[in-house]
Amino acid sequence: MAETLNDKVVIVTGGAAGIGGGITRTLVARGAKVVAVDINDDAGAALEQELGDSVVFISGDVSKPETAAQAVDTAVSTFGRLNGVVNNAHASRQKPFTDLEQADWDLSFGTGFEATKNFMLAAYPQLKTAGGSIVNFCSGAGINGQPTQAAYAAAKEAIRGLSRVVANEWAADNIRVNVVGPMAMTEGVQKWSEAAPELYQQSLQRIPLGRFGDPETDVAPVVAFLISDDSKYVTGQTIMADGGTNKVY
Ligand SMILES: NC(=O)c1ccc[n+]([C@@H]2O[C@H](COP(=O)([O-])OP(=O)(O)OC[C@H]3O[C@@H](n4cnc5c(N)ncnc54)[C@H](O)[C@@H]3O)[C@@H](O)[C@H]2O)c1
Repeated sequence: MAETLNDKVVIVTGGAAGIGGGITRTLVARGAKVVAVDINDDAGAALEQELGDSVVFISGDVSKPETAAQAVDTAVSTFGRLNGVVNNAHASRQKPFTDLEQADWDLSFGTGFEATKNFMLAAYPQLKTAGGSIVNFCSGAGINGQPTQAAYAAAKEAIRGLSRVVANEWAADNIRVNVVGPMAMTEGVQKWSEAAPELYQQSLQRIPLGRFGDPETDVAPVVAFLISDDSKYVTGQTIMADGGTNKVY
């Protein structure tokens, strides 16, 4: 029987749609309260409608440090505490390395690395009062060095490096920091599969379990485990929820 998430208050960035939407739904189904931060206002409003008082939606860009402060303040003022942060949002553009412009690097590092760093720092004063769990996101693109993904891959691997260091530094505060590497069928992946069916088939063939994951039933339960006390002896780890595509030792 999975540990319930009763009493856990969790911030989920990019928590209104895609993998983040699946994480929000699964955490709430297991008893958590969620502050979902996203730039997709329509999806955020729909999520509040669907999940009622268990979720508060904040419309905000994660690359702005004030968004992190607002999310932490909202968790405390609405639900009385903060127990976890899921740094899921990350925007990027795919181009060959030589074509990348400063704006492309800024987008990936701003929404990926800087946002992850800022949400961790903003949450720290709350998390250290009773311990907590941070779940950050990496990608097989970073682990494998996928062509056209330099800005994205570099930010993702910077997030893994940061996570390992902070796992060690904050262990004394009983704050755990882990990383999830997903592979999931989202609206974006669906559109890509229709636009580039041959590339999609090639990707599919590289997944040992033979399918793209489902955000809610394949990726979110791994995040729920890392947020829960079932994983209270797990920190500094990367766990791939990608059908076995990438092995990270
Ligand atoms: N989908 C996959 O197969 C896959 C593979 C590897 C890694 N990932 C990683 O998993 C995470 C989620 O991926 P996804 O496919 O669901 O992403 P996505 O592009 O569908 O976006 C997820 C959510 O983030 C929100 N968002 C985007 N920019 C934002 C910003 N600046 N501020 C606030 N919210 C913002 C979007 O509105 C969306 O609701 C990301 O970190 C991604 O890099 C995904």
